[in-house]
Amino acid sequence: MANVTVIGAQWGDEGKGKIVDWLSERADVVARFQGGHNAGHTLVVGEKVYKLSLLPSGIVRGTLSVIGNGVVLDPWHFRDEVAKLKGQGVEITPENLQIAETCPLILPFHRDLDGLREDASGAGKIGTTRRGIGPAYEDKVGRRAIRVCDLAHLDDLDLQVDRLTAHHDALRAGFGEAPIDRAQLMADLTEIAAFILPFVKPVWLTLNKAKSEGKRILFEGAQGTLLDIDHGTYPFVTSSNTVAGTAASGTGLGPNGAGFVLGIVKAYTTRVGSGPFPTEQENDVGQRLGERGHEFGTVTGRKRRCGWFDAVLVRQSVAVSGVTGIALTKLDVLDGFEELKICVGYKIGDQSFDYLPAHAQDQAKAEPIYESIAGWSETTAGARSWADLPAQAIKYIRRIEELIGCPVTLVSTSPERDDTILVRDPFAD
Ligand code: IMP
Repeated sequence: MANVTVIGAQWGDEGKGKIVDWLSERADVVARFQGGHNAGHTLVVGEKVYKLSLLPSGIVRGTLSVIGNGVVLDPWHFRDEVAKLKGQGVEITPENLQIAETCPLILPFHRDLDGLREDASGAGKIGTTRRGIGPAYEDKVGRRAIRVCDLAHLDDLDLQVDRLTAHHDALRAGFGEAPIDRAQLMADLTEIAAFILPFVKPVWLTLNKAKSEGKRILFEGAQGTLLDIDHGTYPFVTSSNTVAGTAASGTGLGPNGAGFVLGIVKAYTTRVGSGPFPTEQENDVGQRLGERGHEFGTVTGRKRRCGWFDAVLVRQSVAVSGVTGIALTKLDVLDGFEELKICVGYKIGDQSFDYLPAHAQDQAKAEPIYESIAGWSETTAGARSWADLPAQAIKYIRRIEELIGCPVTLVSTSPERDDTILVRDPFAD
């Protein structure tokens, strides 16, 4: 089985874009399986920088790209992103881009509700991307969503719109907002349907056919395992399952299709939005990591919180996602630190933990237990083989492998696609 599933093994922003781009050149199909346009995947190809939020990264190289049923789709954002990429010279047609019929739609009132709730939450806010992701998933599970396939049956949508507006109008009233303008909603859907429908296909069938023909499928995860709705730092998480297992349920290929699970891991830790972050460094170290790593959100432009590498969290992610090997990114950001710290456990009160307990209060109180390791003064930026790395950098990588119980498959040493040390080709398995 030569498929690869790429997932983030921290809180997102691990540098998945570059790795997915690099792998997508050798894939026959690239599939997104969860999340929506809350993702921010940056691809640097030659002189050009592409910023994708919703479309699978394979589209930039013309690889067949599919948006699976596990994704929530804002159709207006989809149109804008297609237009933006076409403006950069990327060819996008129904021949190389498919959308699953069963994707739930993100509608304008989902975005409104996301923002209204965040504004009303004060200190308890989650720090969402305000793109309506959570409210759209709620409607999916509440069985009131309007789905992509409904765009071809807009004259048969009355009962569903009744259900949807009854639910949302009650919520909106609570915020002092006017009810949904039903006529406007139907007019908006009618207008966008013509653009979306040519891309709509039974994606599960496309993928199963590709599998039976022995084609290589690359599953492109968004966000990270610690933002998973079940396994993450709840409630400070996104609203989808970000673990590798979702590649199956979010596309309809089946669990034996996931192939090699490549966990993307940054050589330190970052987080955007609220929530516990045991190794956060609100000091010179955090400042330096943020500046050197250009740690600003691709989607919202927010400054990312930065801290030391947390081996406990990554070990947990490796376990719950069944990671086969990791891609270690942004190693060069650590160049020049005299001493590096790695979190190897937590203290909560007088108890020690070798995993992060589930309750938010415990997570907030978790004090990291650190191990120190000497840094290196040389630069690792642009290294393409182990021989290019200082001995201390190799020691750091080897210690991470030991602590997380998973081998390094590749090391990324700059945003340039060729600045990569390949230990094992994930597609070759
Ligand atoms: P939502 O996905 O917009 O509901 O946001 C929920 C949480 O997930 C917030 O903490 C966001 O900052 C975080 N989040 C969502 N998408 C990403 C991403 O692509 N990278 C990093 N964090 C993300």
